[in-house]
Amino acid sequence: MSSRSVFVTGAGIGIGAACARAFAAAGYRVVLSDVLQPEGMQVTEDINAQGGDAEFVFLDVRNTKQVNAAIRDTERDGFDVVVANAGIARKKPFVELDDADWMETIDTNLNGSMRVLRAALPAMLRRKAGAMVVLSSISGIAYGWDKHAHYSASKSGVIGLIRALAVEFGGQGIRVNGIAPGFIRTAQSLSEEHSLGEAGLQAAVANIPLGRIGEPDDVADVAVFLGSDAARYISGQVLVVDGGLLVREA
Ligand SMILES: NC(=O)c1ccc[n+]([C@@H]2O[C@H](COP(=O)([O-])OP(=O)(O)OC[C@H]3O[C@@H](n4cnc5c(N)ncnc54)[C@H](O)[C@@H]3O)[C@@H](O)[C@H]2O)c1
Repeated sequence: MSSRSVFVTGAGIGIGAACARAFAAAGYRVVLSDVLQPEGMQVTEDINAQGGDAEFVFLDVRNTKQVNAAIRDTERDGFDVVVANAGIARKKPFVELDDADWMETIDTNLNGSMRVLRAALPAMLRRKAGAMVVLSSISGIAYGWDKHAHYSASKSGVIGLIRALAVEFGGQGIRVNGIAPGFIRTAQSLSEEHSLGEAGLQAAVANIPLGRIGEPDDVADVAVFLGSDAARYISGQVLVVDGGLLVREA
């Protein structure tokens, strides 16, 4: 068993759960965190039942004290990889968006990522090694998503965070990268209220050169790569994982 370790936020379902399983399959000790306790516990049990080494900690990434305590209580001598995945997408026309709507999304997606990376950094700095992977989105990098200005702004914001931290901490052996998924089949994208829903996802396939909606594993495998030594010379980058959507012919 490798002694490498990873901390994943939003690990109860979707891309986060797939990341937890993929890192476990790669031999990592996995700390799963989420506000979805039963779901997170279930993934944790599954990993352990398959011979892995996983534990679950309840964590709302909007709560600085909880974030600091969760990392401190589980990091041992520091995580090799942190995956800042927890996020929400809420559909709201921009003129109806009030400050509370804006803050909820920014506080979860952007501030939440910042809190987790900040909490994990001191131990990584002590051991002069570590990799951070942050979930952005095609709507943070190049894709305008109507009625999702707050989401898009949060997902562009994490790209600034990734670049700044890559420069600030590269000299101390820490790599910081992001992933910008396209349409991935999860609760988020399947929400009729807040995203495309099943029919919308099916319609989107026509614009995806690889001819299918992405699966959480498609993203998780990239997270494992970015966290691994195979990505040792990659930092400050955001990998687009969208089946070719952004470069399709109009
Ligand atoms: N599904 C897609 O098509 C897609 C596309 C681009 C980016 N993303 C991003 O990927 C990440 C994972 O998304 P997903 O599709 O798996 O969504 P999902 O809704 O299936 O899962 C999101 C996870 O984040 C957790 N979460 C939400 N608020 C939280 C909080 N305050 N504290 C802790 N955990 C919290 C949820 O409980 C859940 O486990 C998100 O950041 C999302 O924005 C997803």
